[in-house]
This record gives sequence, structure tokens and C-alpha cells, in this order.
Amino acid sequence: MEPERSAASFWTQSNALLRKSLTYQKRNIRSNIRLVLIPFFFILILAALQSLQKNVNKQLSKPDCGSSDQFYLTLSCPIPQPQEWAPLLQLPSRDYRAVRSSFLPSDLPDESCRSRHDERGYSSCPVTLLLTGNNQSLGETLAGNMLLNSPPPKSAGDGMEYIAHNVMGSDSSPQENMFHDYDWSMDVVTIYNVQRHCSPNSSFYLPVREASLQPKICLPLWRNTSTEVNNELYRGYRNGNSEGKINEVLGAYDFSNSDKNNFNVSVWYNSSLKSGDDDVGEVLSGAGSDSKLLRLPRAVNLASSAYLRFLKGFGTNMLLDFVKEMPKLQETPFQMPDIASMIGPLFFTWVILLLFPVVMKSLVYEKQQKLRIMMKMHGLGDGPYWMISYAYFLTVSVVYMLCLVISGSLTGLKIFRLHDYTIQFVFYFLYMNLQIAMAFLAAALFSNVKACSVIGYILVFATGLFGSELFQAFIEDPSFPRYWIIVLELIPGLSLYRGLYEFAEFTPEASTVGTVGMRWGNLRHSKNGMREVLIVMFVEWFVLIFVAYNLDKLTSSVSGKSPLFFLQSCFGKNKEHSSSLRSGTPSAQWQGSTVSIQMDKPDVTQEMEKVESLLLDQDSTSHAIICHDLKKVYPGRDGNPEKFAVKGLCLALPRGECFGMLGPNGAGKTSFISMMIGLTKPSSGAAYVHGMDIWTQMDEIYTSMGVCPQHDLLWESLTGREHLLFYGRLKNLKGSALIEAVEESLKSVNLFYGGVADKQAGKYSGGMKRRLSVAISLIGDPKVVYMDEPSTGLDPASRNHLWNVVKAAKQDRAILLTTHSMEEAEVLCDRLGIFVDGRLQCIGNPKELKARYGGSYIFTMTTSGDHEEEVEKMVRTISPNANKVYRLSGTQKFELPKNEVTIAHVFQAVEAAKRQFPVFAWGLTDTTLEDVFIKVATTASQ
Ligand SMILES: *[C@@H]1O[C@H](CO)[C@@H](O)[C@H](O)[C@H]1NC(C)=O
Ligand SMILES: *[C@@H]1O[C@H](CO)[C@@H](O)[C@H](O)[C@H]1NC(C)=O
Ligand SMILES: *[C@@H]1O[C@H](CO)[C@@H](O)[C@H](O)[C@H]1NC(C)=O
Ligand SMILES: *[C@@H]1O[C@H](CO)[C@@H](O)[C@H](O)[C@H]1NC(C)=O
Repeated sequence: MEPERSAASFWTQSNALLRKSLTYQKRNIRSNIRLVLIPFFFILILAALQSLQKNVNKQLSKPDCGSSDQFYLTLSCPIPQPQEWAPLLQLPSRDYRAVRSSFLPSDLPDESCRSRHDERGYSSCPVTLLLTGNNQSLGETLAGNMLLNSPPPKSAGDGMEYIAHNVMGSDSSPQENMFHDYDWSMDVVTIYNVQRHCSPNSSFYLPVREASLQPKICLPLWRNTSTEVNNELYRGYRNGNSEGKINEVLGAYDFSNSDKNNFNVSVWYNSSLKSGDDDVGEVLSGAGSDSKLLRLPRAVNLASSAYLRFLKGFGTNMLLDFVKEMPKLQETPFQMPDIASMIGPLFFTWVILLLFPVVMKSLVYEKQQKLRIMMKMHGLGDGPYWMISYAYFLTVSVVYMLCLVISGSLTGLKIFRLHDYTIQFVFYFLYMNLQIAMAFLAAALFSNVKACSVIGYILVFATGLFGSELFQAFIEDPSFPRYWIIVLELIPGLSLYRGLYEFAEFTPEASTVGTVGMRWGNLRHSKNGMREVLIVMFVEWFVLIFVAYNLDKLTSSVSGKSPLFFLQSCFGKNKEHSSSLRSGTPSAQWQGSTVSIQMDKPDVTQEMEKVESLLLDQDSTSHAIICHDLKKVYPGRDGNPEKFAVKGLCLALPRGECFGMLGPNGAGKTSFISMMIGLTKPSSGAAYVHGMDIWTQMDEIYTSMGVCPQHDLLWESLTGREHLLFYGRLKNLKGSALIEAVEESLKSVNLFYGGVADKQAGKYSGGMKRRLSVAISLIGDPKVVYMDEPSTGLDPASRNHLWNVVKAAKQDRAILLTTHSMEEAEVLCDRLGIFVDGRLQCIGNPKELKARYGGSYIFTMTTSGDHEEEVEKMVRTISPNANKVYRLSGTQKFELPKNEVTIAHVFQAVEAAKRQFPVFAWGLTDTTLEDVFIKVATTASQ
């Protein structure tokens, strides 16, 4: 015997997996490059959008400031010296001026003024001014002081002065700002000269810019209380009265408690112009005014001048020469917003989250294709698997992110360009780790690639949309509780969104203030959510990786089953079974459990006794495999009863034996093998492989086990040689020993010559794949090998070759194989067990079985249909106890007990028969294994 090789260490396993993965990824280089190029592609789109935006903005921000009649463009032009405008009163519209009516006091002008028209066709009603206060005589004095009549201007030059000395008003609506109050030249504005008394024929043209200036009588009316004023204003308003009449007044003054020593005035004015209902104007004028200006200064000036005259005499005058706007700088007019900052958080959340389903899919793929469990069965521990997979995904993610950040920076996207790259690195790196941990966790919950990728992509899009539609609103709403935001950030996609949002939000502010993006110092700022995001991600990563590792450990041992199944079996039956198993010595276990063995099968009973004695002697290491009363029950689903797949199996397999398991489909062979190779846990019973318990020591068992599964589990893009190198390394073969073993193995399964070994397994024929699977199961000298129908689908030559390989391999190891080929069973197996309906029906070497079950010859004869009875009569004479198996249109088959007949006898009888009637064909055979199988299978299932 060669010296025992120790199991591969953690690093050896990691090394094996790393080399395999590198080769595998090298073959998949194209899809890897495609993946890494995705960010480039998206950045290109963004960059294109951004350059479009820049061009548009450049066009927009170059207004033609030379020409003044382009109204909107001049809005954005610099105005170092604003125009001076005469201060105007806001007069009520011509047709709505207050007149007498049933619901208003009778001192208002008569309604007939509305039908008297001036030369422009407007009604010539005077405008009304209301006054109130505590002292009526004072109030009326002040009203008299308000409006002065001064003579019309004598020359064109003193136009502005005339306006200052008189009170001008207009009923046109004012502009948004005073850069464009009224346009004299366009004559849209009529300026009225508001007077106390009209001198006849006082209409004249204001010399300045030829605007028409018409006199307008102002009617100051006293009211006793401010409540009256208020009611009048209210009722007179368009919608305030019941008669459908509109009675607007110019304004109202409440002098309140004013006296000689105290001036206290409130002014009512029409503020409805303030609400800029002209939204276009707002946007066009930029961030400046959000309402139209009010012609208020003149109204205030009126009251102040009047009071001043009351105090100081009539000659006193407080002139309001003009009003003017503040000078202003050039404004950037309408600008397309920065697309990258605007859609940035959502867009990049999607781009980065896209990696999540990719990672998850590739993890679930290995699980679904059973490659993971295949590697595990050949000794790959969870630790190395995790480390290498994690490292791989991290590398891909980091490269992906680097591509994104670098290409983003190169195209000048502010969201990447402005901020400290170390902050960005820490943020993205933490997130990548978190995302991979998350993918590992999610992958543990799925066993189907399609389901997982659908759900993965839905998650990606849903998280992005949730982030931009709701989460962002929460962040921006200061009344939303902060701790809820932190709770939401526990969803990794949202913490990513938050981080990107912070980067994007920092961008515009930074560009106007002139600072440069986020620095480490900015993290302290209370409004900057980056710090909490980093902390949340870091802590969550730790927790997730821990949970994912443990969940994966639990689910990967019962691979192919959902975690629900795991929970179910964990809290359901398994508990009792395992507790009953672990308690007490083996001898205590089967006291009450042997009921299932039927006593009429001496061979099976004998095997059971052998197992029991082995276990009692604590001699479980002498045999390669020992199973005791192994059972597998699948829980009932959808109202179906429980399915007993294996109903108590006892088996002892010494080294060097090849044990064949025959049985019809669905007999439970595969369930049995699944339990032995750790794919499923038994429901109860015990099994030892070289003394190691399959309940607890599966990981150790894996290091000395080989499996050739029913369906080839191979990587399409790896060659045969690479497969064997990988599995050889897992079995702790190194250096020249490894190369030698691989070559030998390739030669033995006839894959060595003609460059087959270096062809990718995806291009192999079915037979070649099968042979490779067998070679894999045998490499590294495993002590126990399970082969599930190794020769299915092979041509006879390859099959013979394969048999030789298996025969040679069984020298010092136990092989357990299932097959449907009796020929194979006979050639390869030292012992056979026929497994029907969850139980071994018989066990023994092929010859014994044939002798036991086949103690008869099979006699077949074909005649015409008329002679069937004569044939039967003839058979009865040879052997009275002959048993007719079937009769089919002249062909009849009989079983002749061996103790009754001799072959010579049969020949004589046939010769005699031939003379009496025509015999088309006849035959005599010994029983075959097939007959045994059919017999056992049919009697057992009856
Ligand atoms: C009202 O005002 C006048 C001055 O215009 C003053 O002479 C008079 O005393 C005031 N009346 C009251 C009750 O304060
Ligand atoms: C206002 O008060 C005066 C005297 O106090 C009174 O004569 C007059 O009728 C009142 N006017 C109104 C509209 O109530
Ligand atoms: C205020 O002015 C607007 C615009 O001229 C007018 O439509 C509205 O009726 C006025 N409101 C009052 C109370 O006079
Ligand atoms: C000014 O008048 C208002 C209302 O008439 C009054 O509430 C306020 O106390 C007065 N202010 C002074 C300083 O007298």
C-alpha cells in the first residue's frame, strides 16, 4: 500500500480553485471585458448628453445685449445703470372704478359716469381714495394736502420735474421689474395726472416721449372706521359683491391715532398684481423676482408729503423724483440643468447595482449546475471557495468601478471629478464589498438562475426608482426623522443612492461657491450624510458576511433545496432522528428499528447481522462503507403522503470490492447515493465511510471520496486536462506526482491521445464526457468511489475500455456503482444488490444470485398457432413442473426446473416433435442476470 496522503490544506485548496478560476475566466475573457466595458458605455451616453447641454447653454448664455428691443434677452444682460422711471400710482382699471350702488355708500360718483366716455372710448369715472382715522378733521386736512394742482409743463425739458411735482398714475399692469416698467415708445401705457379738481381742458401730451397724459380726478372719501373701509373694499371687489358689479378704489389710508406728534398710517393697496401669475416671466427672468413690482412708493409718498405739509405748511414738498432698480450683473438666463448631477444618483445607482445580479447569478449558476457540490464532494472546503469567489468578484467589481470613475473623470463629470478621490475610493470600495456580501446572502436563498436573475434585476430597478422617487424626498424633507433614513440606508442600494446623492448635491454648490468638491473635512458637516453612509455600510458588511457565510454553509450541504426545506427538515423530523441517533452507542440504536427487514431473505438478513456485529465490535474502519438502517423520507407535499425513498438499508462494503446496485427506476438508488455523498441528509440511520460518520464528518469524508454523477458536471470551457489538474490538486496531489497522475488518468480513459485532453469539455461527445467524469472520480486515489450509471451512453468499445479502467481501479478501494446494464454488473461487480421499493431484495455475487433465483432453464419454441397445445404437452412430458412464462402467437416460453431435466432430454424431445409438426425455431438458455432481475423486481413489487 502506498503511504496515505494527507488531506489538502486550506491553501492548497485555494490554490487549486484559484488556478481553475483563472483558466476559466481567461476563457471567459470576452464576457468579462464586456462586463467591465458597461460603465464606459454608460459614461459615453452621459458625456454625450452633457456636451449637448453645454452647447445649448453656451448658445443661451450669449444674449445679444446690444439690441434693447429683445425683451427676454436683455433680461440677462448686465444693467450697470438702470433706467429712472417716474413713480406712478396704480389706478383701478377704467371700467371698474367705484360708482354708487345699493351695497356701497352713496357718496360715490354716480353710475352715469361709466356711460360718459372720453375721447379714447373709456369711461370717465374718477378714481376713489378712502380715508379713515381717529380724527376726521385731521384726516381731511391730510387728504387735501395729498394732491396738488400745479400748472402743466411749459417746455419739454421739465417733463420729469412736472411728474415729480404732480401725482401720476397708470391703470396698466406693471412689469416684472423696473428695468422695463412701461414702454413710452410703444404707447401701451396711458399716464394720468391725478388731481383733486380738474381744470377744464387739461388734457395734454407729456412732452417726454409723447405719451398722452390725461387728468384724472381723485375723490378722497372719509369713512368713520377702518372696518367700514375694509367692508367697502371687500364688497367692491370683482367677486365680492352680489350684483356682479365691480367697484375698485385706488387705495385707502388709515391715519389711526396720528396727531401733531405722531404719524401713524396704514395703506391699503391692491396686491393682486404681486402674485406673478405669469410663470414664463418668472423662469425667464431667472432667480430674481418671483412677482411683479408694485407701484407702491408713490402711494406712501403721498401720505408722507401730506403730513409734512400739515406740519410745516403748504410750501413744503417732499419730492419723489423717480424710482429705479438696483444695477445688476449679467445673469445666466435659462440654462439646461446639469444632466449628470440631475439624473446622476439614479443613473449611477443603476449602473453600479447592475453588478449585483451578475455576481448573484454566477454564484447561483454554480449551485444550480451542481458544480459547487461537485467540487465540495471532491474535497473543496467552504472556506477556500468563499475566499477565491469573493476575491474574484471583488476584483471584477473594483475594475468595474475604476472604469466608471476613471472614464467619468476623463469626460469631466463633476460627480466624479470634483471630490476627493480617496473619499470616493473608500465609499465605492466599501459598497462593492457590501454588495458582494449581499449577493452571497441572496445566492444562498436561490437555487435557480432564472428566478434569481429576474428577481435580481427587478430589485435593481426598484431600488433605483424607490431611491429617486421617495428616498430622496425623505432626505430633503427636514421633518422626516433621521433615524428612519438610517434604517432605510440599511438597504444597500439606498445607501449607495444616498452616497451618490451627496456627491451630486455637493457638485452644484461647489461650482458656484468656488470650492472644490467633498473633502474629508466636509464629512463632519451635519448636513453631509456621507459619514453615516460609510458607517452603515461598514457595519452592515460585517454582519452580512457573517450571516451569509453561515447560511451558505447550511444550505450548500443540502444543495438544490430551498432554505425553507432546510428549516422544515431542521425543525421537523431531523431533530428527533438526529437526537435519537447521537444518543447512546450503536448497539442501542436498532433495538426497535429492524421491523422492516423481512425474514424470508436470508442474504439480506445476513448482511444486516454482519453490519451489526461490525458496529458492535467498534470495527467500523475495517470496511470502506458501513450503512445501518439508513432511511430517507421525503415529506408529503400538496396533500400527498410522505414518500419513503429508502426504507432501511444495511450494507457493509470491504475495500477492494465493487458493489453493484441494480433496481428499477425510482427504487431509491439515487436517494441512497445522494445520502452517501452528502447531497441530502438521511432521515435516520447511520453510515460510516472508513469509520467517519456521514452525519458529522462529511467534510473529512469528502477528502477521500470520488463521485461520478449520473449527469456530467463539467465546466464547458475547461479542457479535460484542466479538470483533472483541478481535482487532482484538491486531492492534494502536487508537482510531478500531479502531472503523472493526470496523464495516467487521461490515458486510462483513452482521452490522452489525439489532443483530446486539451479540447474544451464543451466540445466533447457524450461518451468522452462520461469517461472524463469517471477519470475525475478516480483521480487522487480516493478510498471510496460512487459511480452513478457510469457507462450510459457509451459505445461498446468505449464501454469495454471503461470497464477495464474500473476493474483496475477497484484494487484497493470500494466502488459503489448503480447501473441498468446487467452485462456491466456481471463484468464489474463482486457483489450485487437488487434494490426495489426502497429495500434491498437480495444481495450476493452474480453467480449465487443466478443460482438462487434462476434454478431453471428457459425453453422457447415457435410453431404455428395450431400446434401450441402439442408443444405444451411435449414440455409437460419432459418436465411436469414446467412453468409457462408467456404465449404469443405461436411463440411460447417455459421455465424448466434444472433438477427435473437434462439438456440431452430436451434435445431428444425436440427432435421427436420436429417430426410431428413444423417447428420454426426453438431455443434453450440458462437463466441470465436479467431474468433474475426481472423476477426479483416483479415479485418484490407485487
Ligand atoms: C383733531 O385734529 C385737529 C388738527 O387738525 C386738532 O386741532 C384737534 O384737537 C384734534 N381732535 C382730537 C379729538 O384729537
Ligand atoms: C360718521 O360719524 C359722524 C359723526 O360722528 C356721523 O355724523 C356720520 O353719519 C357717520 N358716518 C357713517 C357713514 O356712519
Ligand atoms: C387689483 O388689480 C387687478 C389688476 O388690475 C384687478 O383685476 C383687481 O380687480 C384689483 N383688485 C381690487 C380689489 O381692486
Ligand atoms: C398705529 O395704528 C395702529 C392701528 O390703528 C395701532 O394698532 C398702533 O398701536 C398705532 N401705533 C402707534 C405707535 O401709536
